[in-house]
Amino acid sequence: MSATKRGDTLCVFINGKKVTEDHADPETMLLSFLREKMRLTGTKSGCGGGGCGACTVMVSRYQPATRIISHYSANACLLPLCQLHGAAITTVEGIGSSKTRIHPVQERLAKAHGSQCGFCTPGMVMSVYTLLRNNAQPSMEDVTQALAGNLCRCTGYRAIIDGCRSFCQENGCCRSRCGDETPATHQEKPRLFHQEDFLPLDPTQDLIFPPELMLMAETASPQTLTFYGERTTWVSPASLEELVQLKTRHPAAPLVMGNTNTGLDMKFKGVHHPLIICPSRVRDLYEVSRTPQGVWVGAGCTLSELLGLLEKLLPDFPEEKTQLFRALIQQLGRLGNQQIRNVASLGGNVVSAYPNSDMNPVLAAGNGKVRLVSAEGRREVPLNQDFFVGFGKTILKPEEVLLSVFLPFTRKGEFVRALRQAPRKEVSFATVTTGMRVWFSEGSRVVQEVSIYFGGMGPTTVSATRTCDAIVGRPWDEATLSQAYNVLLDELALPPSAPGGKVDFRRCLTLSLLFKFNLEVLQKLREMKVLDEVPEKLLPLPRDIQPTLQEFQAVSEDQNHQDPVGRPVMHRSAISQATGEAVYCDDMPKTDGELFLVLVTSSRAHAKIIDMDVSAALQLPGVVDVITAKDIPGKKERAMFGYSEELLAQTEVACIGQMVCAVVADTKAHAKRGAAAVKITYEDLPDPIFTIQDAIERSSYFEPQREIERGNVDAAFSRVDRVHEGVVQMGGQEHFYMETQSMLVVPVGEEAEFNVYVSTQWPTLTQDAVAETLDIPSNRVTCHVKRMGGAFGGKVIKTSILASITSVAAWKTNRPVRCILERGEDMLITGGRHPILARYKVGFQQDGRILAADLQYYANAGCAVDESVLIAEKILLHMDNAYNIPNMRGRAAACRTNLPSNTAFRGFGVPQSLLVVENMLNDVALVLGRPADQIREINMYQGPSTTHYKMEFSPDNLLRCWDVCKTRCDFTARRTAVHQFNQHNRWKKRGMSIIPIKYGIAFAESFLNQAAALVHIYKDGSVLVTHGGTEMGQGIHTKMQQVASRELHIPPSKIYISETSTSTVPNTCPSAASFGTDANGMAVKNACEILYKRLEPIREKNPKGSWESWVRAAFFEKISLSATGYHRGPDLYIDWDKMEGQPYAYFTFGACCSEVELDCLTGDYRTVRTDIVMDIGRSVNPSVDIGQIEGAFMQGLGLYTLEELKFSPSGLLYTRGPSQYKIPAICDMPLRFNVYLLPESYNPHAIYSSKGIGEPALFLGSSVFFAIKDAVAAARSESGLVGPFSLDSPATAEKACMACASPFTQKVPASKPGSFKPWALNI
Ligand SMILES: Cc1cc2nc3c(=O)[nH]c(=O)nc-3n(C[C@H](O)[C@H](O)[C@H](O)COP(=O)(O)OP(=O)(O)OC[C@H]3O[C@@H](n4cnc5c(N)ncnc54)[C@H](O)[C@@H]3O)c2cc1C
Ligand code: FES
Ligand code: FES
Repeated sequence: MSATKRGDTLCVFINGKKVTEDHADPETMLLSFLREKMRLTGTKSGCGGGGCGACTVMVSRYQPATRIISHYSANACLLPLCQLHGAAITTVEGIGSSKTRIHPVQERLAKAHGSQCGFCTPGMVMSVYTLLRNNAQPSMEDVTQALAGNLCRCTGYRAIIDGCRSFCQENGCCRSRCGDETPATHQEKPRLFHQEDFLPLDPTQDLIFPPELMLMAETASPQTLTFYGERTTWVSPASLEELVQLKTRHPAAPLVMGNTNTGLDMKFKGVHHPLIICPSRVRDLYEVSRTPQGVWVGAGCTLSELLGLLEKLLPDFPEEKTQLFRALIQQLGRLGNQQIRNVASLGGNVVSAYPNSDMNPVLAAGNGKVRLVSAEGRREVPLNQDFFVGFGKTILKPEEVLLSVFLPFTRKGEFVRALRQAPRKEVSFATVTTGMRVWFSEGSRVVQEVSIYFGGMGPTTVSATRTCDAIVGRPWDEATLSQAYNVLLDELALPPSAPGGKVDFRRCLTLSLLFKFNLEVLQKLREMKVLDEVPEKLLPLPRDIQPTLQEFQAVSEDQNHQDPVGRPVMHRSAISQATGEAVYCDDMPKTDGELFLVLVTSSRAHAKIIDMDVSAALQLPGVVDVITAKDIPGKKERAMFGYSEELLAQTEVACIGQMVCAVVADTKAHAKRGAAAVKITYEDLPDPIFTIQDAIERSSYFEPQREIERGNVDAAFSRVDRVHEGVVQMGGQEHFYMETQSMLVVPVGEEAEFNVYVSTQWPTLTQDAVAETLDIPSNRVTCHVKRMGGAFGGKVIKTSILASITSVAAWKTNRPVRCILERGEDMLITGGRHPILARYKVGFQQDGRILAADLQYYANAGCAVDESVLIAEKILLHMDNAYNIPNMRGRAAACRTNLPSNTAFRGFGVPQSLLVVENMLNDVALVLGRPADQIREINMYQGPSTTHYKMEFSPDNLLRCWDVCKTRCDFTARRTAVHQFNQHNRWKKRGMSIIPIKYGIAFAESFLNQAAALVHIYKDGSVLVTHGGTEMGQGIHTKMQQVASRELHIPPSKIYISETSTSTVPNTCPSAASFGTDANGMAVKNACEILYKRLEPIREKNPKGSWESWVRAAFFEKISLSATGYHRGPDLYIDWDKMEGQPYAYFTFGACCSEVELDCLTGDYRTVRTDIVMDIGRSVNPSVDIGQIEGAFMQGLGLYTLEELKFSPSGLLYTRGPSQYKIPAICDMPLRFNVYLLPESYNPHAIYSSKGIGEPALFLGSSVFFAIKDAVAAARSESGLVGPFSLDSPATAEKACMACASPFTQKVPASKPGSFKPWALNI
């Protein structure tokens, strides 16, 4: 098969325009077609595997038989172009543009401040647009469902929800601003946005479905379509007969329907299919027919169509007949997300036979069956344990096609249920999923039939047959069930090293899900009047998102109305981001001769490189070169803290994922194939170190280790009433910036000059790194940063290394080279937040006063030092948090291991440090049996205070935040309500916690506290501002525009910021440490002041003149209209020998209270309410700052409760994409999420009395961790367990459930550590 062979011409409409393609390649997905061929770069790539929603588009199709046009959202990354013949695609560019008219969805997301870095925004826009296209007045539930598959790493979702809420019938927007207050106060309170300003939704603005496609669908003669690609042929038959013939001739060819399974195998596992059969045009696969026994549903129906069909069927039948339908509806609502359900087929799900398929256990338990067709004829087969024969395997013969699935009606007395528990409530494969059915004869509790199937308990769907045998024929009562639990535990006994891990939890879940089923069956028996007394119903966790409050101080009435400082000004690029016009690194058009670079990484954790054979790679089509360390003309390594890190490994590798060489080719696909063809021979070195425990045992540390002590800790321990010791472990975190590491290096062509377009927080570091690598002066390298799609600390050191490697390729080939990491590569290579292990000993008095604390922190740094020593230092500097502990000692060590090197991440060690100290306080409360908030209050700094490193400060605003938070969240009354709730609920518990934060701002490395700016005024009066800060969504450019506007006394619309560039502002410092606005704001202010002063004589001459007239006059009077500004920041330091210093300019304070409801049977929880009070001085921009607070909080919530990195025993990161690594989604948002900025706070140390806020609120996410811990403590007390207990972070459903120590967890015999090789390491 070859690309030159002429196939059919593909016809698709994109944004109303007809596009035809004579050589549609079956391996091309819509996403790359849109971005590369159509230059429609609004649709983003965040994961490539259906898990993030950044690539969401709307697909519209016309069905001639029904004359219905359907519109549905889909992930362009998984949509094969060839499947779209006859479809109309709408992308974000197609619904509105800043050049013509923006669409209300784009406008509202932008104006409601729902776009920060903006990388997720086009996907969000398209999900909501599609929803509105189908339902102009959706409910909030519709909105959250539509957005369930769209991840955002910046905003915390609240703002997005508020923007979308304005489309809903139950629009609670007014209440969201003023609670129960009267309309009069409503007028006075400043608001983040004004709904009254929004454009109305106008359906006439929508593109109509192309009439040409309707005609095409109605008149086209049904014929096979064939498309030939470079390596693959696509055949789309038009009839069942032809499909069967094809499958007979090509039994190995996959049938691609939704491509949500096949596509992932091709993309991520390198599976290649020379032939793909696409049966989506075969009508028979969509037929639905009713029989007296049930309903046959065509295997081609998508899961959304199935859901719609079942919902439609319900009213047509009595409830008793539709038990299976109801269970399926329940399951379908939680399966994947809308984009997936809209394309994934029922048949595809059944045949894929995933171990944790949600459909199969329910269909099997519900007596479903399938109809298969092949050249030999048709057969019907029951969907039972014999159907699933192994991982991804069923009894289907290779040549058979699944035609339809039979869904039987249930009988009187029959009851079917679907239950599941997943790592995240939505858009997550289940840990354990189940379908259970029981049938009672009338008027009896004796079980006639029972059927129980589980997913997640083996290589495929499994039947609990022995358990069913223990139940059938017996009365449904306690005796039968307790016997059933024992049999079930024995029957589904996973080996301790079973793939997927979580073995004890999974075994426990089988029991608790059966128990949940029991509770529902008992209700059913009561309804059947077989039983009178039954336990109370176990209600699901609450899920309704409530209107919220965001309060901030209004600007003074005297402030000039044109002065934007202090006002909630929209992010300056929000509209461009929402329309898809904003340009990110990979959106830049391809330049002539451009190459793509793909890295080859080590597959061994610790090994010698014996040989590297690149010959096969060089033979492949499109491959231009392979770059190795030998090609580097300058420095081949980077030194930090006396340790050197190689850019590309030469003789030895120290982790899986270490970069060894790079392949450059004409396209990404060719470079990927080239990289796969590089053969590296290794010789393993003994005993790699992975875990912190291993590192401690082998004293594997990066030096220096740090220690700090205040008072006399040892002496204090001998005086205290009580001593308690504890250990806590905290996992790492992946940055998961939505835009992966991205760069484009362009040789200018003369005098070794290079332009580097890169997504980095620190352009100067990249400039220096590239210059050193190429052995050229820095003045030949210009780094340009337009914007980043998120960074969170991960785009500093690692980016400079990647850019250096890319620059070698550009230098060697003398061609532009682009490197955009795929999500999996990014997660594998670039490291993240340091996991830690901490031991503590605390001495305290009976009254709760802590007099002594000794803390030892170990951080897993990975194989290179990076910033690990600085992170260890910051851990120690923050170990006091808000508490005045008179005798305190901390030691911190960065452990050297054979894992990818960890790096900076928002908070820079502080989130790890504080979790430990707060856990220690929590333990003190548990030992003393007193509320944790009281212990916190007793120990908090009061009055003029000094930290353990002898820095003086006033904690007044910390205490104010605490008090205001307690009042605003109604702490005391709600604490009582929580207690009452817990007394009345056995299996659900509520927990509540309030946590303070004191966060130091600026760099302890004094030289980093400086910034510069360059401001040009052009003759037309427009102003161009450049400064050293980089825009990563945190709104720094918006704030700088506000600063320039105030200082120059002109509206922000006259001011533009185009990029950050090392050629305009040299020697920049990183945008980090929450110090970007402080430093750059002062520099911009300085430059503007200089310019404004220069204009003074002109203004005096013509006081009534306009800005433009002054500028023109100044030019003619030869006054320079360009100025640099500079800010020399504070001289901060920390002296580790003397254990003292002034490492921070000031502190940002805050407090946060969260309440959760925990399902003790499964560990599932929901944050029902969060209230945050932050002292950020006088905010320069409250909408931006509130966005930072909410986003950081949610990232913290992810860190402490959800996000788990898993490594194999050989050191390979398993979690390399959103399907394995769960960051918070909309379903994780607190149901009430209130943020208050502390009024009347001033800060003399930063611009306009503001405070840095990028990082501090991340730690507040731990309030959810401690609320879960509080709920777990309540659950444990039901089992008679009181006092401190261990709960490591993240407090996932697994950990929370196991810590609850319910009768079910206690039944599961714990696997003995050391007696088996676990599936995943506890790093
Ligand atoms: C992000 C994401 C989240 C997901 N979450 C869940 C979840 O929570 N729960 C869950 O159960 N599933 C989940 N899935 C899996 C999804 O439901 C399945 O991948 C999907 O149903 C498969 O259908 P498809 O049409 O896309 O199959 P395709 O990928 O098109 O095909 C899959 C396989 O089925 C075969 N096949 C398809 N149709 C037929 C037929 N008619 N006859 C014979 N063989 C056939 C193909 O040959 C191929 O081998 C998720 C998937 C993704 C990408
Ligand atoms: S890029 Fe398509 S879903 Fe993530
Ligand atoms: S704004 Fe959503 S990912 Fe950045």
